[in-house]
Amino acid sequence: MFRVAPLRPGRRLLAAATAMTTPLLPEDFLGLIDPLWSTTQLRGRVVARRRETDRAVSVTIEPGRDWDGHRAGQYVRVGIDVDGVRHWRSYSLSGPQDADHLTITVQAVPDGIVSQKLVRDLPIGTIVQLEQAQGDFVLPDAPSPLLMVTAGSGITPVMGMLRTLDAAGAVPDVVVVHSAPSAEDSIFAAELAAMAERRSGLRVITRHTGEQGRLDLAELDELVPDWRDRDAYVCGPSELLDAAGTHWAATPDRLRVERFTAPARSTGGSGGRVEYGDRAVDVEPGTSLLEAGEAAGVLMPSGCRMGICFGCVLPLRDGQVRDLRTGDVHGEPGDLVQTCISGASGTARLDTP
Ligand SMILES: Cc1cc2nc3c(=O)[nH]c(=O)nc-3n(C[C@H](O)[C@H](O)[C@H](O)COP(=O)(O)OP(=O)(O)OC[C@H]3O[C@@H](n4cnc5c(N)ncnc54)[C@H](O)[C@@H]3O)c2cc1C
Ligand code: FES
Repeated sequence: MFRVAPLRPGRRLLAAATAMTTPLLPEDFLGLIDPLWSTTQLRGRVVARRRETDRAVSVTIEPGRDWDGHRAGQYVRVGIDVDGVRHWRSYSLSGPQDADHLTITVQAVPDGIVSQKLVRDLPIGTIVQLEQAQGDFVLPDAPSPLLMVTAGSGITPVMGMLRTLDAAGAVPDVVVVHSAPSAEDSIFAAELAAMAERRSGLRVITRHTGEQGRLDLAELDELVPDWRDRDAYVCGPSELLDAAGTHWAATPDRLRVERFTAPARSTGGSGGRVEYGDRAVDVEPGTSLLEAGEAAGVLMPSGCRMGICFGCVLPLRDGQVRDLRTGDVHGEPGDLVQTCISGASGTARLDTP
């Protein structure tokens, strides 16, 4: 004969709560009491902020219980409300991968909506929206000699990797070549120097571009003579990434890059009037359909904002659009348009969610 095992006290309470709260689940109420308990939306609470430079802060976030953790080098999409409008941006995780809390390090860009908010005005306790960590800018399981070439805030995913290796006591042969305008602007400079003192495998070469000028990758022959024998990780402004693509053209599988900003846009084009559902918006030449829609208050899906993730696609009902990277005009009714890298070319209509 089967016996039904008695419920443990916690389960009994939950079962009772479920019976009392049906058709809502207890989690729905717990999500109201503590936003981090929500099972429908992943959220995080800002628990610490640390100033890194005049323009950069590290923000530590306690994630909701559904957070799956991350691999060093990955990034997280953060949704944050600025003047009542939710904006999503991606930030690399600068903390070690086994940490309970996640840390992002943000450098304010001039006129940047989200980065200025994160750097200047984000009180402890703020609730932010999160997605699970993403990205394949991660270390291989058994790292060979490594070369990290970073500039500005491009150091953040590399810092996540170095902190992870350091915490595991296993820093392999790594050379970091990091550029920043000045010593004061160099994020993590003191920690990198201390780590290099402690770990014989790590060599850090710092470039202050304000005094020494920008790094020309041809200089690697002198700075890191065995650069060809290393797995290279490059993160920084578009020009650096484009130059890296050319520099490693003969051995592209040795190179991994992480892009923070979209490649340069082609100039020209006519712009035009685009209907987003029932809303008509005039889109200037060179402005993306995503930016124009957001500016007009249309609820737009988005992701990487640079043509990689397809998180921003909307169906084209009619008309054509212009690829802002190439200048090509294209489109058939029913095509899915990447709104972050497409502009207007005359009139068009998009279906909105
Ligand atoms: C995978 C990934 C990881 C990223 N990791 C980090 C990170 O660790 N730290 C970090 O600070 N940023 C990171 N970024 C960039 C970040 O997502 C935002 O783009 C950046 O904070 C600017 O957002 P904003 O809302 O302040 O600027 P917006 O209001 O979107 O843009 C304002 C102006 O600044 C320009 N701009 C946008 N981004 C940059 C930039 N990065 N540098 C210079 N000009 C820019 C825009 O073209 C625009 O003219 C990452 C981006 C990606 C895709
Ligand atoms: S937002 Fe990622 S492709 Fe457009």
